[in-house]
Amino acid sequence: MIDDLNKRIEDVRREFDEDTRGNVGSKEFNLVREKYLGRKKGRLADLMKVLKDVAPEHRPDAGKLINDLKNELEVKIQAFEAGMSDRRDVRVDCSLPAFDTPLGYPHLISSIRSQVEDIFLAMGYLIAEGPEVETEYYNFSALNFKEHHPARDEQDTFFLDGLPETLLRTHTSPVQIRYMQSHTPPIKIISPGKVFRKDEPDATHTPVFTQVEGLLVDRDIHFSHLKGTLEVFARSFFGEDVNLRLRPSYFPFTEPSAEVDISCFLCGGEGPDCRICKGTGWLEILGSGMVHPRVLQNCGIDPEVYSGFAFGMGVERIAMLKFGINDLRMFYDNDIRFLRQFGRP
Ligand code: PHE
Repeated sequence: MIDDLNKRIEDVRREFDEDTRGNVGSKEFNLVREKYLGRKKGRLADLMKVLKDVAPEHRPDAGKLINDLKNELEVKIQAFEAGMSDRRDVRVDCSLPAFDTPLGYPHLISSIRSQVEDIFLAMGYLIAEGPEVETEYYNFSALNFKEHHPARDEQDTFFLDGLPETLLRTHTSPVQIRYMQSHTPPIKIISPGKVFRKDEPDATHTPVFTQVEGLLVDRDIHFSHLKGTLEVFARSFFGEDVNLRLRPSYFPFTEPSAEVDISCFLCGGEGPDCRICKGTGWLEILGSGMVHPRVLQNCGIDPEVYSGFAFGMGVERIAMLKFGINDLRMFYDNDIRFLRQFGRP
């Protein structure tokens, strides 16, 4: 009989362990408690009833075995309850952000583009956009490029197969033509966007890059307005201490034209080994000039009444200067380590 009881005790222990394996909620645990320790119908109470069938000399040992099991189950149940109440003490703040949520953020090109836009928006410019697929007329002819200008060459420009005189714009200046033809002065716009040139990718060339061009047309606009505007831009973008240097240049659509350099914002011209300006003290940032009278005429604007200035810069180029990036291709490789350096979630 005592062997029989031993076996029943083992069975109850195994059953209990099975019932409490895994994630048992507090509700189920109440049922478990009732099933094993319930005063009348619990498994332990059943075992107690069997005790009277055990031979009297074995009863004390048998009683102890049952008691031991009872204590064991009680301890296990208490431990579980302690765990439950510990868990209840942990306050869950549902307003906290979730862990490990992958957040996206703008690419460096987009973020520099919006910084440039913000500077000009603050000066009262509007943003004008236009198509990336253009006609030769808007991209070249209306901008006073001669019929055989080398920029029109197949080698420089992506022409679209099967569509005569249709190309991927090589700069965003055609947006200025479209805008001047559909608006009357005063005109004050910037035109940001992608442009395309047949260049072999290397450290300073990619077949696609991003420009922001600007155009202002009004009465009595002089070269000094151009210089002052670019100075405001350069100081907001690169730093309050930078100075401008204008060098004579040539563009078919501006006259006079100027290439614009800023004084090196890193060494201020003092560093013969400067990694940014290579000791020259100057960094070329953009092309500019006074809008050519013929361009105004092409757009129905009287050059005797109105004058204007225009400028154009490469977004990648100014980002490279600002952050000391030495290879243009990195913008387009999409190496996550590069992108993360400039990410602002
Ligand atoms: N469109 C010129 C370019 O892409 C830049 C420029 C714009 C120069 C406006 C002068 C005035 O190179």
